[in-house]
This record gives sequence, structure tokens and C-alpha cells, in this order.
Amino acid sequence: MRRLAAGNWKMNGLRADLAEVEALIAAHPAPGCEVLICPPATLLAPMAALAAGRLALGGQDCHARAAGAHTGDVSAAMLADAGATHVILGHSERRADHGETDAAVAAKVQAAWAAGLTAIVCVGETEGQRDAGATLAVIEAQMAGSIPAGATAANLVVAYEPVWAIGTGRTPTLAEIAEVHDRLRALLAARMGDAAGVRLLYGGSVKPGNAAEIFAVSNVDGALVGGASLKAADFGAIVAALAG
Ligand code: 13P
Repeated sequence: MRRLAAGNWKMNGLRADLAEVEALIAAHPAPGCEVLICPPATLLAPMAALAAGRLALGGQDCHARAAGAHTGDVSAAMLADAGATHVILGHSERRADHGETDAAVAAKVQAAWAAGLTAIVCVGETEGQRDAGATLAVIEAQMAGSIPAGATAANLVVAYEPVWAIGTGRTPTLAEIAEVHDRLRALLAARMGDAAGVRLLYGGSVKPGNAAEIFAVSNVDGALVGGASLKAADFGAIVAALAG
């Protein structure tokens, strides 16, 4: 399978920051992995014009409905129309800030698939849940509730993002990452039969300095990168580590 370096810009990025994408493409004209950037929706169209197919683009959320009276929301079809091929769904910041439940995430995944987008579904435990020994149970429940029937290796990517590792500089041990990713693969295999082609990303404080060791972990097929995806030099180093 082709490994995936995905950058989540979150609520960061103005048109001036398109220069970072230009620099990334210039420095890595033929990356040995798939490169995806999920900018704020306002930058999708100009970034698509700039990328000209040289990297993939994604949204960070979409509404569960195809269109209608939903002020302030963005539909999956709008993301696709602006140049996105992917959309992040169920990120812990949306689960926490907007009260998104597993069922709400599953409805969004269906909307994404209806628009032809690949859904990057995020799961991950809080620090309290890990301390309570509930990590695998939490992940299992999120997987069961957030991913509707119909998943394929082409339309689904799963990102394991421990909430306590996001933006903190802290990461799980390599053994802890392996334990969760091995379980994710087994859960998908139980649902889909053959889940070998579904890419499993690790996310949470991935940096140039820890990327190579994380990418060597069993069943880690890429990364979902927040802060370090904003600068071409940092994200480029992660792309290079993934391309190995
Ligand atoms: P950081 O890489 O900034 O920890 O963010 C991870 C993340 O939430 C990506 O979706």
C-alpha cells in the first residue's frame, strides 16, 4: 500500500501561507508516499490551483446533509467541488468542541462517501481513559459507532490520535502505538474481511525528530500531522521519513 503523510492545518492558514505548499512541492517533487494537506475550507480552491494534482487535498469536516438550510456549514460536495478528495471526520477537537457523537460522525462519513470523498475517521482516548485502562475499549466503541457499513480500502483511512498527545509534545510509547494499531487492523478485518489495504495513520505530536521511529511501528501506514504540517521544512522532513 502507498503510505500517507497527511497534514491537518486546523484553523490556521491565510493565502500568504500558500507559499509553504509551494515550497513543499518544490522540495519534494516526487515524494515516495502520498501527500495530503487538509487546509481550512477557505484555502482549498487556491491550494488546488497551486497543487495542480501534485498533492492531494482534504477538508477538516463536512455536514451530514448534502445541501440545505445549515448556516455556516460546508457539504462534502462543496469540498469535492473545491478540489478535495479526502475529508477528516470525527477529529477529537470536533468531538469535544462541537459535541460530535459517534453516530454524528458515521452520518458524515456516509455524506463524504456519497460525494466521492475518502473519509479519514479519527479515534483516540483521553488521558483519563488511558489511565483507567480503557484505551482499547474506547477505540473499539468509536470504531463500531463512527464507521458505517460500506467501508473499503479506497474510501476509508483511520487515524489513531490519542487526545492527550495532540499539540502537547507527548507521544505514546512505540509499544502503545503498536497495540492500538494492531487492534485497529483486527477490528477492521472483522468487519470487512480483508482490511489489509486500509491505511492506519498515527497522529499526535508527530515531528521530524520522532517520525522515522513511529513509521517503523507495526500497522502504522502514515501520519496525521497538526502543528508540524504548517511549515514546509518540518512537513517535508516527515514526508521524507515516511517515504523511507
Ligand atoms: P499535532 O501534530 O499538532 O499534535 O496535532 C495532531 C492532530 O490533531 C492532527 O489531526
